Amino acid sequence: MIEVKHVWKKYNPGMKNEVVALKDISLNIERGEFVFISGPSGCGKSTLMHIIGCLDNPTRGEVYMDDVKVSSLNDGELSKIRRDKIGFVFQAFNLIPSLNAMENVMLPMILVATNKEELRNQAKTLLEAVGLGHRLKHKPNQLSGGEQQRVTIARAMLNDPEVILADEPTGELDSKTGEGILKLLKKVNKERGTTVVAVSHNMLTKKYCDRHLKLKDGKIVR
Ligand SMILES: Nc1ncnc2c1ncn2[C@@H]1O[C@H](COP(=O)(O)OP(=O)(O)O)[C@@H](O)[C@H]1O
Ligand SMILES: [Mg+2]
Repeated sequence: MIEVKHVWKKYNPGMKNEVVALKDISLNIERGEFVFISGPSGCGKSTLMHIIGCLDNPTRGEVYMDDVKVSSLNDGELSKIRRDKIGFVFQAFNLIPSLNAMENVMLPMILVATNKEELRNQAKTLLEAVGLGHRLKHKPNQLSGGEQQRVTIARAMLNDPEVILADEPTGELDSKTGEGILKLLKKVNKERGTTVVAVSHNMLTKKYCDRHLKLKDGKIVR
């Protein structure tokens, strides 16, 4: 489903502060797989997630998603792929403080949805699916860290994406709450067949993944 071919990423290429964040990464991810990527801080995990997630283009190399070469698309085309195929879950929750759980889940589609009532129902169903049916009208600061992360997972599922990209999804959570999030991602993976790529320091992720890759200094070492 996702093919990464000889990808290099340089930040500030040719400048004094050039950083080579990814060095000749090649990787295939099958539909329905749960892939876990670990590695020390600064090794390029988020950079790789951004490139797989069509948020950034590689400096060299190619990325294919469902046989579409996404590494050479323009911003408009990339944002369409993101909207149609990808759900993002980030460590820092990225919720809008002034919006409640329902509104946060609906936000990515609020401008494009033609049927607002259907969108509301969808958001409600997703929040129920992640165990937050009793917290629909709560704002982020009225929710625990684990609950906030559940809202981001519901939001990521809104378009029924083909792939969920989770960057340190348990990073700010205690271990029990973190495991709850991993179980939830696994549930989405199994029940909906959604491909999951999760970057984490949390070695518990091993228990839930199909494949564990280690990144070091911008290279896959295993
Ligand atoms: N926008 C940027 N500009 C310059 N350097 C960056 C940028 N983003 C990340 N880097 C550098 O690239 C390397 C990889 O970063 P990152 O992918 O965020 O690592 P990780 O997620 O594994 O901690 C780091 O050395 C980081 O400092
Ligand atoms: Mg990172």
